[in-house]
Amino acid sequence: MKVTVITGSPHKKGTSALLADRFIEGAKEVGNEVLRFDAAFEDVKSCLACEYCASHDGECVRKDAMNEWYEKLIASDMIVFVTPLYYYTMSTQIKAVIDRFHGNNAKLAGNKKAMLLATSYGADDWTMEGLEKTYEAILRFMNWEDAGKLFATGCPAREMIEQGSFPNQAYELGKSIQ
Ligand SMILES: Cc1cc2nc3c(=O)[nH]c(=O)nc-3n(C[C@H](O)[C@H](O)[C@H](O)COP(=O)(O)O)c2cc1C
Repeated sequence: MKVTVITGSPHKKGTSALLADRFIEGAKEVGNEVLRFDAAFEDVKSCLACEYCASHDGECVRKDAMNEWYEKLIASDMIVFVTPLYYYTMSTQIKAVIDRFHGNNAKLAGNKKAMLLATSYGADDWTMEGLEKTYEAILRFMNWEDAGKLFATGCPAREMIEQGSFPNQAYELGKSIQ
């Protein structure tokens, strides 16, 4: 399966980066082809809502990393979102990528699976509710099928997430993709 993992943290060695690392390890071990799109370290501009794309076959006026990523995303069988929780939703860095789907919604929609992995400081039973609802609405709109979620709550720092079972759960989730 062709899998694209989109990460959204500006921390190269942060909590969600660790989940992404372990997930990718597992996914590759069972033969998947995995691309990693570290959104915080690529030039991804925000959508201008100019609608130029609507009359130009998805071509975007913004010339940045998305120009090459569109093709890779369209060719993917699965999109995996890995984000730190920022104000009860995904990070700006990952949301910027999703907003830029706009120009190519029709080409991206359908025939894909998706996963969501997220880390947070908080560990209340409602901590991930906003993020989960947003993710589910995006999947419904894109007509993508959810293939799994992992919510690593109570993980404000790398040392803490390393001590628990979340990294291994991410690895197993990666291995579950066939
Ligand atoms: C701007 C910002 C907003 C945050 N908002 C939340 C939040 O709403 N709820 C929460 O539990 N943690 C929140 N956190 C904590 C992060 O989700 C947490 O530290 C996470 O482990 C960071 O992941 P990273 O190391 O991959 O960047 C926030 C952190 C930042 C920097």
